[in-house]
Amino acid sequence: MNEYNSGDRVKELFNTLVKFAPTAIIFLDMKGNIIECTDHTLKIFELPKEQLVRKNFLEIVHESEKDKVLAGLKQLIAQNTPIKSQLTLYKSGGKTFDAEVYANLAKDAYGKPFQIIVKVLDITEHKRIEIELYNARELLNILMEAIPDAIYFKDTLSRFTKVNRAHAERMGLKTPEEAVGKTDFDFYSEEFARQTYEDEQEIIRTGKPLINKVEKVVGKDGLVHWVTATKIPILDKNGKVTGIVGISRDITELKRVEETLRRYSEQLEKMVEEKTKALLEAERLAAIGEVVSMIVHDLRSPLQVILYKTFLLKEKLKQLPIPSYEKDSFKETLDSINEQVEYMNKMVSDLKDYARNIKPEYLEIDIKKLIEEVLATFIIPENVKIKVSVQKDFPKLLVDPMMIRRVLSNLISNAVDALPHGGNIYLETKIEGEQIVISVEDTGVGISEENLRKLFKPFFTTKDKGTGLGLAICKRFIELHGGQIFVESKPGVGTKFTIKLPLEGHIKR
Ligand SMILES: Nc1ncnc2c1ncn2[C@@H]1O[C@H](COP(=O)(O)OP(=O)(O)O)[C@@H](O)[C@H]1O
Ligand SMILES: [Mg+2]
Repeated sequence: MNEYNSGDRVKELFNTLVKFAPTAIIFLDMKGNIIECTDHTLKIFELPKEQLVRKNFLEIVHESEKDKVLAGLKQLIAQNTPIKSQLTLYKSGGKTFDAEVYANLAKDAYGKPFQIIVKVLDITEHKRIEIELYNARELLNILMEAIPDAIYFKDTLSRFTKVNRAHAERMGLKTPEEAVGKTDFDFYSEEFARQTYEDEQEIIRTGKPLINKVEKVVGKDGLVHWVTATKIPILDKNGKVTGIVGISRDITELKRVEETLRRYSEQLEKMVEEKTKALLEAERLAAIGEVVSMIVHDLRSPLQVILYKTFLLKEKLKQLPIPSYEKDSFKETLDSINEQVEYMNKMVSDLKDYARNIKPEYLEIDIKKLIEEVLATFIIPENVKIKVSVQKDFPKLLVDPMMIRRVLSNLISNAVDALPHGGNIYLETKIEGEQIVISVEDTGVGISEENLRKLFKPFFTTKDKGTGLGLAICKRFIELHGGQIFVESKPGVGTKFTIKLPLEGHIKR
């Protein structure tokens, strides 16, 4: 009976190994000819066994590496040092693949090498992953370096493990490496650092990211920046949070713009509010104006009647057979009535002018003549001196003579009123650039700061018998001419009213 000897067993083992070992192993003779290989080898080379086994190992090595392999094999045989090398090998159809190759000698019982054993590892996939990893890392590095946003990685204790250049710059560091191991407490105000620490611990606890939180960053120097911060937990393959990655965008400039816009819109709102008020006031005044012009219209004739009747009474009085002291007393009363009625009459005509809805009727006038005409209607006290100065070659003006006469008359009468102890009044007309400038200045009592503000409002007066309509009418008439009226005054020194009309439309060109 044939004993199942150990030689057979070895052979069997070997055959099993060749068939099933999940490794590519090639057996070469001492000349490098392939004599046997494991089945797995055929898978890698995509060749049937008879094709691979006929070849010399050098035939499956890429040309550029043949010399290297030959030298390696020689060294292996001469010095018995195993070789490990990365090679490009041929497989079916002339295709190549990257392989890691280990070669060793098989020796017989006397220590004489009789075969070379080569293990081949296909590292194509390995290489591909390596390149992918490298590329991914490179991309990340490029992104981190180039992006103007601050990017950082932190461990679970909120210590920086990596930051990009932008982040380092924001923290005032020369290099990103300096940040490693530090925390926000090293760079920012206690309050801010505490807040971010709490946020981050919450992310680490819950695994929930923080997206676009607007933060007010206060530096150790107190400098304020605004950022939007996004923080995302980093998970390991078991889903455990190992740290966070954060990105923060500086929006300080944006905030500033936003703030400016907000302020503008507030101002605008205020302006609209004021304008609305002014409009309502204008509406109210217009309504009053209508009533006033009606009353004024109705008052005019009875006033005229009273004036006429007092005149008649005065005439009759002369003929009455009563003592002259009594006549004088009656006359005084009648004069007083007359005076009061005249005042009422003036008020009525002022009101009429103010309330009237009129359009200027432009006529050509000589300002010098017009001023003289107006002055002729005044009884100027002796201690008041009036000086008129009209610029040389002052042109003829196109204005509404009635209105300008009223304006000048009002201003001069105010000036005279302001000079109870005498003084000077200067009237000046000139062309300044594209404007006609007419001013009436006095050396009178002046106007307090508080009253200056109310001056042009209707019914503002400080006089016993004032109507407070004079300046309101002046303003109205000048504005109807497309011009403006200004006042400067110093209590105890004097007052200057200045009228400015655009040249355009007010002179013949
Ligand atoms: N030249 C001036 N100097 C001082 N105060 C003036 C002068 N002009 C006007 N005012 C002040 O402005 C007020 C309003 O003037 P005005 O509208 O003409 O009404 P009135 O003369 O009827 O009071 C006056 O009561 C006076 O207090
Ligand atoms: Mg007046």
